[in-house]
Amino acid sequence: MNIVRAKDYKDMSRKAANIISAEVIIKPHCVLGLATGSTPIGTYEQLAEWYRKGDLDFSKVTSVNLDEYKGLPRENDQSYYYFMNTNFFSKINIDTKNTYLPDGMEPDSAKACGEYERIIESLGGVDLQLLGLGHNGHIGFNEPAEEFVPQTHCVDLTPSTIEANKRFFASYDDVPKQAYTMGIRTIMQAKKVLVVVSGEDKAEILKKAFFGPITPKVQASVLQLHPDVTVVADEAALSLV
Ligand code: F6R
Repeated sequence: MNIVRAKDYKDMSRKAANIISAEVIIKPHCVLGLATGSTPIGTYEQLAEWYRKGDLDFSKVTSVNLDEYKGLPRENDQSYYYFMNTNFFSKINIDTKNTYLPDGMEPDSAKACGEYERIIESLGGVDLQLLGLGHNGHIGFNEPAEEFVPQTHCVDLTPSTIEANKRFFASYDDVPKQAYTMGIRTIMQAKKVLVVVSGEDKAEILKKAFFGPITPKVQASVLQLHPDVTVVADEAALSLV
């Protein structure tokens, strides 16, 4: 595991964007695994800026996202589809036909998850998977558990996640209660993994995940077994290691 120390959020974002851009330059047809959340936003902004300057071309890139809420239409501004379009896809020249997220509007979980696995397989797997780190060590929506779930699956969101998300919706009933997420095997099969972590509030979980025991109670800890992981974290997130 390679830990890259960044000064602050901006520096973390530039360093992460550098790693992704190297992949896109070396392998124009690469498959990028992408994440939502607040941490990668700066990385996407930086990549979009380099695209605008003419340094990057995403026209041949394919992307697969980690997760999507079940039951939220794409037009909903809380859907991950909406997030990716707003924060990244609309700012670069990726062909949106080549951007994949689990189909949140497919009510049959087995069908939605099986289909997503087939898509990833047909693409030949993920070349570079970008991940954020949840405060409880989750990656994607793989929450602390007694075991690792290997493949794309449907998860029940925890009451605290539903409660936290409530502020974005008109009422509690409108908050999605389930999501589809890539599983741990799917993530571990990516050729390279890039984790971005920022802020003092992530310092404790960063230490547990990458310097503690490997356990499904801290799902990100499994990344210690991956042969090619780079963690780009700022000083604040690395303050306990
Ligand atoms: C996002 C995702 C989540 C986030 C994690 C960290 O697609 O799957 O695992 O990466 O919750 O979120 P932020 O970056 O908002 O702290």
